[in-house]
Amino acid sequence: MLRQEVSLDGKDVPYLYGVDVTEELVGALADLAVTADLVLLVTDREVTVHAEPVARGLAKAVRVAVFTVDAGEQRKTLSLVEDIVEFAIRQGASRSTVVAAMGGGMVGNVAGLAAGLLFRGIRLVHLPTTPIAAFDSVLSVKQAVNLSGGKNLCGTYHAPSLIACDLRWLTSVPHGQMLTGLAEMAKNVLAVVPTRRHALEQALGRLADEPAAALLELLDIGCTAKAPYLRTDPRERREALVFEYGHTTGHALEFVSQGRINHGEAIAWGMLVAAEISHTLGHLDRGDLALHHQVVGRLRLPPAAAGPGGLDRDRIRAVLARDNKRGYLPCAPDEVPMVLLESVGRVVTGDHGCPLVPVPMDLAMSVLDTVVGAAPGATLVRAGSGLERLGTV
Ligand SMILES: NC(=O)c1ccc[n+]([C@@H]2O[C@H](COP(=O)([O-])OP(=O)(O)OC[C@H]3O[C@@H](n4cnc5c(N)ncnc54)[C@H](O)[C@@H]3O)[C@@H](O)[C@H]2O)c1
Repeated sequence: MLRQEVSLDGKDVPYLYGVDVTEELVGALADLAVTADLVLLVTDREVTVHAEPVARGLAKAVRVAVFTVDAGEQRKTLSLVEDIVEFAIRQGASRSTVVAAMGGGMVGNVAGLAAGLLFRGIRLVHLPTTPIAAFDSVLSVKQAVNLSGGKNLCGTYHAPSLIACDLRWLTSVPHGQMLTGLAEMAKNVLAVVPTRRHALEQALGRLADEPAAALLELLDIGCTAKAPYLRTDPRERREALVFEYGHTTGHALEFVSQGRINHGEAIAWGMLVAAEISHTLGHLDRGDLALHHQVVGRLRLPPAAAGPGGLDRDRIRAVLARDNKRGYLPCAPDEVPMVLLESVGRVVTGDHGCPLVPVPMDLAMSVLDTVVGAAPGATLVRAGSGLERLGTV
């Protein structure tokens, strides 16, 4: 079992990981829970096969109650958080209870918010089972759910006491979802650590045949990119806003599609849009724009259309107008705050000292039209891979 210390909200939090290490991880969780009256294991129905040994092992040391979630972006809501906290109280939870979140980023967020709210904050453990969760979302204290107006509009900051991941859990993620789930790693490489590009490409190449080595490398890329920022800007309100690269239009696509465009896919599209806008505004040069397409191309974004009825362009615009980065800097109603790049690995720093730039809404929408393949009418439907359309860049 390997161990890294991650600075989260000023605390050094152990991140324990490895391949086929569930028993050791359960031991570490039981040690943490030695003072607990209950471990509330909030888990994704899809990972029952991985969660059962964890629940069984833990139950030898402490009382365990399991709350099973059907994951899905449209269920990342306050009402699910309410169900979790009500269940916890019915099970006799107290201030000594530990909430363990086992699943992807969605489960991490709802259980993380529940832990932040119960008794104004009880201990939280992350047991991530997707690439987005293991390499990105657990390396953050942001816990939020969606409201009807947009993504992650309601939440709080709550740091885990422990992060533990058996990378074997990730191997049941379907290959396509695994690749798009690495969009956050592509983002780290393009926006923060371009020197790790070859390591990312190598890991992507090894995923099918040598998953253990590839996943260990990817975890290292995630930690290396985020660690320095988490130390200086733990709540991700200043320089760490760089990790929102690709997330403005990406979140709007994910939200309006109700998760049919999954988080990774959406962020990949969002990065291509942000790169194109950076280029249009005279920041990013053609070479770096092409590099975006090369790196994102490795994630093999699916060619499928967005789903029944396509995506409502007006709704995307409305969601962009309520993006949760609004308020960090003055922005007119017809502008949207975005992270843009000067070059790979270098953000454009706006007048307010943070890496956000007010982008005219019309420009954001027209680039989204071009990049994602929208018709300028009522719906935005992806036809073809989009990447083919961009083959001329
Ligand atoms: N700072 C943060 O808090 C932060 C950062 C990045 C992403 N996020 C959030 O994370 C979510 C996206 O994360 P995600 O992609 O993990 O989403 P998710 O939790 O919805 O999981 C995606 C799908 O994978 C399934 N799944 C989970 N583990 C599996 C496994 N081991 N094998 C097979 N299937 C499995 C789930 O049932 C679901 O269908 C979004 O809601 C996003 O906003 C939060």
